[in-house]
Amino acid sequence: MTEDVRCIEDVLAITASDMQQVNQHLTQELNSEVILINQIGRYIINNGGKRLRPVIMMLLARALNYAGDQHINLAAVVEMIHTATLLHDDVVDESDMRRGEKTSHEIWGNAASVLVGDYLYSKSFKMMVTADSMDVMSVMSKATNTISEGEVQQLLSIGDQSLSEGDYYQIIANKTAKLFEAACELIAIIATTSEQQRRQLAQYGQLLGIAFQIADDVLDYTAEDDALGKNIGDDFQEGKLTLPLIYLLKNGTEQQKQAVSGALNDPTAADFMALRQLVIDSQAIEYTRQQAQSKAQQAAQCLSELPDSQSKQALQFLCDYTWQRNN
Ligand code: IPE
Ligand code: IPE
Ligand code: MG
Ligand code: MG
Repeated sequence: MTEDVRCIEDVLAITASDMQQVNQHLTQELNSEVILINQIGRYIINNGGKRLRPVIMMLLARALNYAGDQHINLAAVVEMIHTATLLHDDVVDESDMRRGEKTSHEIWGNAASVLVGDYLYSKSFKMMVTADSMDVMSVMSKATNTISEGEVQQLLSIGDQSLSEGDYYQIIANKTAKLFEAACELIAIIATTSEQQRRQLAQYGQLLGIAFQIADDVLDYTAEDDALGKNIGDDFQEGKLTLPLIYLLKNGTEQQKQAVSGALNDPTAADFMALRQLVIDSQAIEYTRQQAQSKAQQAAQCLSELPDSQSKQALQFLCDYTWQRNN
């Protein structure tokens, strides 16, 4: 009899021994002769993070009864790519806090952060080659390319008050969901599932990733800094329109529309705490969370072909966790 999965701690207990191997592998691979690379790389990786993408990969490998050890390497690859995107993203977003500590560009500067981000990207490709699979290389090279496109699309959309929900979904599918999708697809590839199962699991990753980013965008208005490990208000401060504001600009009262639009015209001068209160008092958060929930529910449906197991339960649980989390 397997225990039911009821909370995130249950999920982490299932993957604890696997994740220890992933973390060990990550640390081992971060051993450049260039000291600054080790310093920055270890700083951001040892500061933690939820390791959600590797956790999903470990669960999928278990759910598919994968018997090899390449899932450990590929999970480290995915986490390394994720970390590289964070180093770059924090420079672009001018964010001061990440994982409860100062961002690395605050300590070492933008140039070092960007270059070490590049190092992590290229290192991850070096590690990926050991999987000796053209399919793996193909999925990951396309995914990293799409992530970069998403970040550039987002840059181009800064301050654009006519950004539609459709544009928003396109950006988050590219910048965030693509890596979740690829992470799941990699496990399907190494576990040699059917084509259909591979597509379904990729879809699970994509929908979960979309729900995850929508929730992240809600948290930028609703979270407490301490719990989040990042400063709230970063999106607004740089003129980044996310779903709560897109909703309000379209569906708010005239007064709400004017307040949001006025604040977005000069975000650095605007009073974020006042805007935050306006957003919280409106329908925007509820609407946005409902969208995240709906994507997460669709993600759960993609697991229907997986045989019943505790790992499958955990993957189902993660659908709820993704949009209900507070960090
Ligand atoms: C942050 O990702 C970037 C987004 C895609 C929202 P995570 O929330 O997974 O960051 P860590 O790894 O837990 O710090
Ligand atoms: C996610 O977007 C960025 C990446 C996919 C790298 P955000 O800019 O919202 O992420 P946070 O809030 O800084 O973690
Ligand atoms: Mg950011
Ligand atoms: Mg964010």
